[in-house]
Amino acid sequence: MIRTAVLGCGRIGRMHAANIAAHPRARLAMLHDLDAAAAKAVAGELGVPTGSAEDAFGADIDAVLVATATETHADFIERAVAAGKPVLCEKPIDLNPRRVARCAEAIAGTTVPVQIGFNRRFDPGHRAARDALRAGEIGALQQIVVTSRDPAMPPRAYYAAAGGLMRDMTIHDFDLARFMLGAEPVEIFAMAGRQTDPELMAELDDHDSAMILMRTADGVQCHINNARCAVYGYDQRVELLGDAGMLVSDNRKPHELRSYTAARSEAAAPYEFFFGERYGEAFRAQLDAFFDSIETGAPVQASFEDGQRALILAEAAYRSLREGQMLRVEDAAP
Ligand SMILES: NC(=O)c1ccc[n+]([C@@H]2O[C@H](COP(=O)([O-])OP(=O)(O)OC[C@H]3O[C@@H](n4cnc5c(N)ncnc54)[C@H](O)[C@@H]3O)[C@@H](O)[C@H]2O)c1
Repeated sequence: MIRTAVLGCGRIGRMHAANIAAHPRARLAMLHDLDAAAAKAVAGELGVPTGSAEDAFGADIDAVLVATATETHADFIERAVAAGKPVLCEKPIDLNPRRVARCAEAIAGTTVPVQIGFNRRFDPGHRAARDALRAGEIGALQQIVVTSRDPAMPPRAYYAAAGGLMRDMTIHDFDLARFMLGAEPVEIFAMAGRQTDPELMAELDDHDSAMILMRTADGVQCHINNARCAVYGYDQRVELLGDAGMLVSDNRKPHELRSYTAARSEAAAPYEFFFGERYGEAFRAQLDAFFDSIETGAPVQASFEDGQRALILAEAAYRSLREGQMLRVEDAAP
C-alpha cells in the first residue's frame, strides 16, 4: 500500500483525499492544511490523522499529493523531490514562468516521479480520441477544436489566487491541445472578453471568455474556446479533424434518458455539473497512473515539463492579447 499524504483540504483536496482513501493500492496516511479546521473536517469524514507539512515528507510517507493554493506548489514540489517522495501536484505549477524555471532547475535530473494534475488527459473519451488519432483512424490531423466552458462564474474571492483565466483555466486546454497534437504549437493568437460580468472582470483585470488560435510547425490548426459561464452547463468537448475523418469526445450526462413531448424532442438531462462530476473518472485514472509510475518506474503521463510548456503558452497568449497580433511562441515566451 502506497502511504499517501494530501496537502490542502479545500475544494479539490478533499476530492483527491476521498479518492486515495478508496484506492485499492494506496492508504490515505495523513492530511494537512494551513487551515487546521479544514484538515480536521476532512480527516474526520475519512477517519485519518492530520499532521504538519513536515510530517508529509517524513519517513512514514511514500507519496504526496499537493492540492494547496497555486502559490505553494513549486515549494512543495521542491520539498517532495528533496525528500525523495513522488509527488502529484495540482496545476498550475506556479503563475510565474520564472519561478517554474527555478523549480525545474532545483529538481533537474531527479528520478523521483513528479506528475502535474492535468486530469483531462485521463478522461476516457479524450484518451480514446487521442489513441484513435495515433492509430491513424482519421488520417493526417488537420484541425483541433477544444471547447471548455464552466457552468458559472466563480465567487469574487476566487480570482486573485487563480491568477487569470488563461493561467488557471485555459492551461488545461493548452495541455489537452499539446496532448492531442503530439507537437508544440509554434504560433499563437489570443482574444479575450468581459462579457458575463464586465465590471468585475475590468476591476480585477481578468476575463470571462477567450478564443485562442495556435498552429504547429506542420500546419495543424488548433482552436480553444473558453467561457466562465455557460448557462447550459459544464461544456467539455474535443474535436479532431483529419484527412480521413473526424473524432469527437463529447460531453457527459448523468444518464442517457431522452424525453419527447409536444414542446420538445429528444430533451436530455443537463450535463454533469462541474469538474468533480464530469471528470470524476479522469481524476481516479490520474491517480492510478501516478501509482503505476511509483510501482513500475514508468514515466509519469503529465510531466513537470508539460506543466511548464502549458504555462509558457498561457504567457504567450497574454502577450498576443496585449499586442493584438499573432506571435511566434518562442518570441512571446518569457
Ligand atoms: N485539476 C482541476 O481541475 C482543478 C480544479 C480545481 C482546482 N485546481 C487547483 O487545485 C489547487 C487548489 O484549488 P482549490 O479550488 O481546492 O482551492 P481551495 O482554496 O478550495 O483550497 C486550497 C487549500 O489549500 C490550503 N493552503 C493554502 N496554502 C497552504 C499551505 N502553505 N499549506 C497548507 N495548506 C495550504 C488552504 O487553506 C485551502 O484549504 C489550485 O492550484 C487550483 O488551481 C485544479
